[in-house]
Amino acid sequence: MAAKTRKALLLGAMLALLRFGSGNADVLTASNITWSSINFKTLLHWEPEPTNYVYTVEIDGDLSNRKKTCIHIRNTECDVTNLLKNVKDTYIARIYSEVPDQDNDFNTPPYEVSPRFTPYEQTEIGMPTVSYFEQIGKTLKIEISDPLTPYRFNNGSFQTIRDIFKDKLEYTVYYWKDQSTGKKWSTKRSNQFELGIDEGKNYCFYVQATISSNSRSRESPKSIEKCTSVKREDLDGLDLDTILIIAGVAAGVIVLVIILSVIAYKCTRRKATKKENIPPNL
Ligand SMILES: *[C@@H]1O[C@H](CO)[C@@H](O)[C@H](O)[C@H]1NC(C)=O
Ligand SMILES: *[C@@H]1O[C@H](CO)[C@@H](O)[C@H](O)[C@H]1NC(C)=O
Repeated sequence: MAAKTRKALLLGAMLALLRFGSGNADVLTASNITWSSINFKTLLHWEPEPTNYVYTVEIDGDLSNRKKTCIHIRNTECDVTNLLKNVKDTYIARIYSEVPDQDNDFNTPPYEVSPRFTPYEQTEIGMPTVSYFEQIGKTLKIEISDPLTPYRFNNGSFQTIRDIFKDKLEYTVYYWKDQSTGKKWSTKRSNQFELGIDEGKNYCFYVQATISSNSRSRESPKSIEKCTSVKREDLDGLDLDTILIIAGVAAGVIVLVIILSVIAYKCTRRKATKKENIPPNL
């Protein structure tokens, strides 16, 4: 019995040793490495899920020193935003596949290199938001707030994409009379618009940001659609349909009053004639 157990233990130990020795064979290097970046928040993705090894990411810019991040991670995604602060620099990422607890400072672990990435040229622009709008007479006033980046000023407040792109950031407002299909648009380098419109009509609009960069123009998704609702204070502000409905209702009421008074008149007349027919002596 004891001998058998010892044999089994020995076999187990040998198997474990074998597996350890051949461990490196299972280490795969990253493939399908992609950058995904919106408003300068940037993630690296790759494949495959690691089994008995871990990944470490190293960012290397043309004008920046190499820096490691996401050290010894077991997933296939890494937020590298903080290592890309020099947004006009062009970076590559090396993704190392390392076996933990196997101190191997002499050999570089196997790695794969990502495509090149320049945040300023390649980050996507997020959806802009309308912070204020108002229709005053023949003017539609609109204010757009810039999407924020993950980067901060020294005073702690977040930089917007306007702080980085400056004049290269343009907004386009697409606007149209409510329930009509003819769209108009206006493009500006500013966040404030004053559009000439027809007084007393409701308008709807959405906005879109554009970066007019030398190498690659980018458009943001469209903002959420907004519509104005004109205050109905005076008849000038009402459209013809509403005036017709009000006139129709008023005419109806007048006709009803006339009919009722005619009926009332006839009833009193009939009562009066009945009374006249009764002989005066009863
Ligand atoms: C890389 O992506 C392609 C296409 O999406 C896919 O066919 C391939 O299996 C992926 N490679 C790995 C290692 O998963
Ligand atoms: C922080 O600094 C930036 C740029 O100098 C400025 O635009 C912003 O208004 C400041 N924010 C606060 C909260 O002081």
